[in-house]
Amino acid sequence: MSDWTNVGNECDIPEEGTYPVNLGDQPVCLYKLDGQIYATHDICTHGAANLSEGFVIEGQIECPFHQGLFDIKTGKATAAPCTIDLKTYAVKMEEGGVIWIKEA
Ligand code: FES
Repeated sequence: MSDWTNVGNECDIPEEGTYPVNLGDQPVCLYKLDGQIYATHDICTHGAANLSEGFVIEGQIECPFHQGLFDIKTGKATAAPCTIDLKTYAVKMEEGGVIWIKEA
């Protein structure tokens, strides 16, 4: 999939919060950090946890199952037990806050 997909409006996403959406059949988690929107795969690389049910801590998402961490901007696994990086997506925001994502 290479086309941009509309997944909502930035006003729906709390600052330093999470917001689950879908890109086709892929579960994706949106985040807002300092007013910028980021997107990662919503499933932890360590187990079947939805990261959108986790907590944002200083630019990282903490998995709700075993408290592993990923950098939201890069997807890099930053704390055990997570060792496999998280997939990230390209994000663009139009005037009015409309959010589009696509495969990075
Ligand atoms: S399932 Fe996410 S840290 Fe284990």
